Amino acid sequence: MAESLSVSGTTKEERYRSLLPQIAALVEGEPDFIANVSNTMSALRYGMDFFWTGVYFVKESELVLGPFQGPPACTRIRKGKGVCGSCWEKKGTILVPDVDAFPGHIACSSASRSEIVVPGFDAAGEVFMVLDVDSDQLNDFDQTDQKYLEEVMRILEKCHRA
Ligand code: SME
Repeated sequence: MAESLSVSGTTKEERYRSLLPQIAALVEGEPDFIANVSNTMSALRYGMDFFWTGVYFVKESELVLGPFQGPPACTRIRKGKGVCGSCWEKKGTILVPDVDAFPGHIACSSASRSEIVVPGFDAAGEVFMVLDVDSDQLNDFDQTDQKYLEEVMRILEKCHRA
């Protein structure tokens, strides 16, 4: 199954609806969490044609880079810093239509113009990871991305707790 990702649809909604069951199938039966996050980042990057997809894991007082697809990125982000650190602090999804207009945005790549960051929660309700998706287009993310990327995080949370 792993190599046969096939995403159909012309609208973003249709593509997510086609992709999500394939992500669920990719992680089904695999107990290794890092393997599952890695495949999920690839499926999102190539299935939705995003510029960059990746996760950061909470490690003590910082976020540390985890599996990703795209250009190399900054490895450590402190709580409250940048979009990712703000997402961790506020425990909620952040949509950034224009990264230059977000105070404290951390530019890992000058090509990134808009982004969305979604938190993942452990069984105690604490943020243990964040998903960061970047676009090289301004204003590329909306409520549809938020809805489906939050669903992706629910899939990964289940893997993490299994
Ligand atoms: N822009 C993010 C940093 C991570 S990179 O975009 C991959 C931020 O401001 O937190």
